[in-house]
Amino acid sequence: MGIDYVKEGKIATIILNRPEALNAITPEMLRQLSEAFVDFRDDEQLMVGIITGAGEKAFSIGADIETMLPEMKKARVQKLPEPPTIMCGLTTWKPLIAAINGACLGGGLELALACDLRIASENATFGMPEVTLGLIPGWGGTQRLPRAIPLAKAEEMLLTGRPINAQEAYRVGLVNRVVPLPQLMSAARQLAELLCKPAPLAVRAAKQAILQGIEVTLEDGIALERQLNDSLLTTEDFEEGCRAAIEKRRPAFKGK
Ligand code: CAA
Repeated sequence: MGIDYVKEGKIATIILNRPEALNAITPEMLRQLSEAFVDFRDDEQLMVGIITGAGEKAFSIGADIETMLPEMKKARVQKLPEPPTIMCGLTTWKPLIAAINGACLGGGLELALACDLRIASENATFGMPEVTLGLIPGWGGTQRLPRAIPLAKAEEMLLTGRPINAQEAYRVGLVNRVVPLPQLMSAARQLAELLCKPAPLAVRAAKQAILQGIEVTLEDGIALERQLNDSLLTTEDFEEGCRAAIEKRRPAFKGK
């Protein structure tokens, strides 16, 4: 029970491993998730992360109601810090893929929304049921969902708490693709390998430009793009990428 964190070459996989409770996130799991994200961000060998849930029923159905929500209440009342995660407080420009293997609700959907790409199995469902508990999302859901899908659909999900299925999630652009459950992890892995091919510093700069750029004016966003582009123009990988293109061979990027 908890979080499994596995590194294979350039790819790290984080597994929410509490299938008997539909991978509901306990305080201990949140701490372990935080540690895994810090390691993923800082490990120079790692380029891409995949996040998934154990079992065939759920990615995660969110905060554990019996343990996580009381802890959250205590922490917020006492103004104690929460372990930093990609949902709140921790930023990584390395790309993250959510491989969504079933119910993806509340904090589970917030975790998936904090990833860059989302692949869903055909049995996946997506929802923000917090209002049915007398709450609203607490890990960025009200902010990231309307940035990810059309506003009317985001409001419908956030105000009613009713879930949508994988096909609808695909239709509204919440997920990049839908695959049969047995193919989920191989599809995620293929995508991760694809993300390992381009120059890593360029991939990270693209993510940074996109995510910081949507928060600012177009003019400031273009200035940010220029600044990031300028820093890439002086990298060894840029030289290598151009040389390889001219020599019609695969580039050997070093992340420098
Ligand atoms: N926390 C802890 N346990 C949960 C849980 C949760 N959030 N949701 C479900 N479970 C448990 C159930 O108690 C049950 O345990 P037992 O087998 O020991 O009784 C087990 O998971 C399976 O649940 P169900 O029997 O209800 O299974 P189901 O297939 O009929 O329904 C479900 C599945 C649709 C996910 C339903 O359980 C459900 O709607 N759960 C609530 C999910 C929810 O409200 N999530 C939001 C949490 S708040 C949050 O995440 C806030 C935030 O922003 C951080």
